Amino acid sequence: MKPITFPAEFDPLVEQFSNLAERRYSCRSFSGAPLPANAGTRLVAAITSLNHITPVPLRLALFDAAELRRRNLFTTGTYGMIRRPAAYLAGITAPASTRDWLEFGRVMQSTLMLATYLDIQSCWIGGVFDRRTCGRILDLSAEEKVPAVVALGLAAGRRTLRDRLVRWSSGKGARRPIEELCFHHRWGDSFDPSRRTDLAPLLENLRRAPSASNRQPWRVVVRENQLDLYLVRTPGYQRLVPAVDLQAIDMGIAASHLEWSARERGIKMSWGDPPPQVSADAEPILTAILNTEA
Ligand SMILES: Cc1cc2nc3c(=O)[nH]c(=O)nc-3n(C[C@H](O)[C@H](O)[C@H](O)COP(=O)(O)O)c2cc1C
Repeated sequence: MKPITFPAEFDPLVEQFSNLAERRYSCRSFSGAPLPANAGTRLVAAITSLNHITPVPLRLALFDAAELRRRNLFTTGTYGMIRRPAAYLAGITAPASTRDWLEFGRVMQSTLMLATYLDIQSCWIGGVFDRRTCGRILDLSAEEKVPAVVALGLAAGRRTLRDRLVRWSSGKGARRPIEELCFHHRWGDSFDPSRRTDLAPLLENLRRAPSASNRQPWRVVVRENQLDLYLVRTPGYQRLVPAVDLQAIDMGIAASHLEWSARERGIKMSWGDPPPQVSADAEPILTAILNTEA
C-alpha cells in the first residue's frame, strides 16, 4: 500500500487516538438533531482537503440525512436499523485489488475517528443499504461503487429496541482476547503483551477497531520491529454482499488504528508488502515496519 498522507485537519487524531478508540462505538439510535455547526464545518473541511489528495477514484461525500428524507431518496426501510442520523458519509471507489479495499477502509475510518473527536457518533453500514440510489445521487461511473457508508449524528438519550438487538447479536461489541488475535514471532506462538509494552497499546487499539458483524478477522504476528497483518476470513461471509469485500475493508480499518496509534506514541511506521504465507486460512495483507527508537 502506498498510502496517502492525511492533511492537517486530521492532526487531532495524533494527539488523542487511544482515547478516541475507547470512546467510539457503533451508534444506531441518533437524536435526529443536525450536526453542530462548528463540527460539521470542520468535518466538511477535512473531507474537502482529503478529496484533493486521494488518488482518483477514491473520494468521500457527506449527505444531509434530512435533505435525503425530504427528497424521499432513501426509504426508511433501507436504513431501518439506524434511527434518525444527521448525515451519511459515503465513500466512493473503483476497487481493482485488495489494496483499494484497504485504502477505502483506512480513509473512511480516519474520517469517522475525526468525527468522534468532534463529538459526533457514527455507525458503519456495509450490509443492506440502497446502493443504487446512493450511486444515482453521486453520479457514479460504471466502475465506481459505494461499498459502504457511515451514519453520523448525535446519540439519542435512549437506544431503540432494534439497536439493542443488533448490538446483542454482534456480541455486544465485545472483542476477542489479544492472545487470540496476536502471535509472538511465529504464527500460532502465544503472545504475551507484557513482554512488548512498547507495542501493546497499539495492538490494544487495533483490537478496539470496528469490524463488519464484529467478526474481528485481523491477526497479527508481532516480530521484533515489524507487525505482519493477516486476514482470517469468516467462512461464507463474502456471500452476504458479494460485490464488496467487507473483511478487506475491516483490515484497512485495523491498519488505520495501528497507524494513528503509532503516530500518537511517536513511533515511526511505514507500510510494507504482504508478509509470507503462514497458514492455509490466513491471507497475508500488509507489514507494518516500525522504528521504535523514534
Ligand atoms: C465494514 C463494516 C460494515 C458494517 N456494517 C454494518 C451494518 O450494515 N449495520 C450495522 O448495524 N452495523 C454495521 N457495522 C458495525 C459493526 O457491527 C460494529 O462495528 C461491531 O459490531 C463492533 O461494535 P462497535 O462498533 O460498537 O465497537 C459495520 C462495521 C464495519 C466495520
